[in-house]
Amino acid sequence: MKKIYALVLCLSVTTVMAKDIDQRKVLPLNEMQRNHILTEMRGLLLGTQQILQALSEEDMMAVARHARMLGMEMTHKGENHLRSILPKDFMQLGMSVHQSFDQIATDAETLKNPKHTLTQLSTTMQYCVTCHAAYQIGTTELPVETEAHSDHHKHH
Ligand code: HEC
Repeated sequence: MKKIYALVLCLSVTTVMAKDIDQRKVLPLNEMQRNHILTEMRGLLLGTQQILQALSEEDMMAVARHARMLGMEMTHKGENHLRSILPKDFMQLGMSVHQSFDQIATDAETLKNPKHTLTQLSTTMQYCVTCHAAYQIGTTELPVETEAHSDHHKHH
């Protein structure tokens, strides 16, 4: 009997999710631009994990090192070509994240206070939450520049 209930529940949850339309604003990107953003995203996730790891070991120098890599210097890796395409508030949210990580790095070096860093990290991650709630990358087939096909490592 329990099994049947579980199955019915599962089915209804799936149906609700299938009917739910993704309301988030669509960023119309080509394959190269999508790849650029998602690569940066995975970098942010990895870096955040590394900061937490270092924090659990109270290694504040490692915290600073990992946080710095997610700071403004991360934006120099060819984001210019996206600036004209992405909405202004999207870019601003992105910049706030990088500035926040720079502040985390600076404070980890000077204050060396894990509790303080943890609070900052939590606040910083609210930017991740806010942006993910507002935007998605378009799923429609968009014209892809031939360049993106011939050279996957090229970011400019
Ligand atoms: C300015 C907007 C913005 C901010 C800030 C942001 N993201 Fe994202 N992120 C996106 C978008 C857009 C996607 C694609 C979502 C989609 O299409 O459903 C994404 C996708 C991702 C993915 C999936 C990557 C993949 O390979 O599919 C991860 C992981 C991720 N973000 C982590 C983070 C983390 C961690 C932070 C904060 C430290 C963060 N993001 C901050 C916009 C943002």
